[in-house]
Amino acid sequence: MERTRVFLYAAALSLTAAAMHAWAMPEHLEEWWGYGSFFLIAATAQACYGLALLRRPGRMLLLLGVVGNLAIVSLWAVTRTVGIPFVGPHAGEAEPVAALDLLATMAELALVTVLLAALLRSARRTEVVNPVAEVASATADEPGQVLSRRDFLRASGAVGAVGISGGVLGAYAADARGQDEGVGSGGHGGDVGSAPTHMGNTLVGDVDLSRFDPTEFLRDFYWGEERRENGQVVREYELTAEETEVEVAPGVMYPAWAYNGQVPGPTLRATEGDRLRVVFKNQGVHPHTIHFHGFHPANMDGVFEQVGPGQEFVYEFDAEPFGTHLYHCHTMPLKKHIEKGLYGAFIVDPKEGRPEADEMVMIMNGFDTNFDASNEVYAVNTVAFHHQRHPLKIKKGELVRIYVVNVLEFDFINSFHTHANFFDYYPTGTRLEPSEFTDTRVFGQGERGIMEFRYHFPGRFMFHAHVSEFAELGWMGIFEVEE
Ligand code: CU
Ligand code: CU
Repeated sequence: MERTRVFLYAAALSLTAAAMHAWAMPEHLEEWWGYGSFFLIAATAQACYGLALLRRPGRMLLLLGVVGNLAIVSLWAVTRTVGIPFVGPHAGEAEPVAALDLLATMAELALVTVLLAALLRSARRTEVVNPVAEVASATADEPGQVLSRRDFLRASGAVGAVGISGGVLGAYAADARGQDEGVGSGGHGGDVGSAPTHMGNTLVGDVDLSRFDPTEFLRDFYWGEERRENGQVVREYELTAEETEVEVAPGVMYPAWAYNGQVPGPTLRATEGDRLRVVFKNQGVHPHTIHFHGFHPANMDGVFEQVGPGQEFVYEFDAEPFGTHLYHCHTMPLKKHIEKGLYGAFIVDPKEGRPEADEMVMIMNGFDTNFDASNEVYAVNTVAFHHQRHPLKIKKGELVRIYVVNVLEFDFINSFHTHANFFDYYPTGTRLEPSEFTDTRVFGQGERGIMEFRYHFPGRFMFHAHVSEFAELGWMGIFEVEE
């Protein structure tokens, strides 16, 4: 039975007993002021108790009700058998059992039973080892009530442990790998493979890197199959949409829709002016498309030409303008089709090229693992805390170029912050001169650009969203600068 309804019945029982005692009060007052006072006190206490039950009672209050009502019932039994104890004009006399007091006693006994059942239930509910899960289950004890990410954060704040626990990330945690230990170590100086952390956000275990390794994805560019047609470079790519599962944190599987079985999809790369031919196959169960950012004819925009399950479509256009772009599905509801994982980076190099650098792609994304239209996990390139577990190795003094794309849904802004360093920023990568020199850049949905920097000191340096909540839920990494 629903918890609130149980307490409604309990309150009714307590008020019934109170009414009986109030009804009998004048009669007993006539016998002696002491008897009358006892009935008045009992009636008032039971009435107040009934009202208190209507406001989410705690365990102490339930216990008080059991003891109090049992005391009244015992006293009643004594007065009906042995006799009224010690006090008043009728001390020692046994009273006859009447319908009214029998009814009150039955209400009290029924109330005691209900309260005991509620106590047992709450004891069972808190027999959980995981402190976050305990608070979480206490928050979510109403059937059908979904524990939101904000509730989780509140609850975890209450026990002083912030981190990701598979158990509270929703029902989709596939197996227990790393979950029990998945709660943040709490306090400061938590340790992941000796990686220093801000707040002790930790996650034990690792995702299955043989399926998707964010470190490899970083520098993996898909140039397509290159050939020449009438003096123009033609690049042919194949992208297939399908349903798959992606592991977004150790043991936490997300049912995704993906291009080529991975989230993000492959990073498509070309040079300005190349002819692009993208063969798109939909092997999913929903219609999908590919919508490219850039210049192209209306029928190549991936909006009106929906590609149904089992169907194929070939997108063909010239790569322009140069810059850091993205591609994503444009089927309605758009939010859903993007959030499920149908997106990737699309990089067009300027004809004259860019200076030699260690180049990588970082797609800032997030995952709604409990389907409440807000994200529980944040990352660059899908896997929470990946570059904290596996610090990203770069060389001291070498130019690093990061193509950054923000595809986060639900949250309006994202950001990128580098520690102990500043970067040149090229908005959308469409100009060859940077627009600013900074260490923190805010990104709206679909916003992207190029970051360039060099580290002049060796050692470990954090990079993360300066939206602290995102950082604590996975969007956090470390550059390991080597000599
Ligand atoms: Cu789609
Ligand atoms: Cu877009």
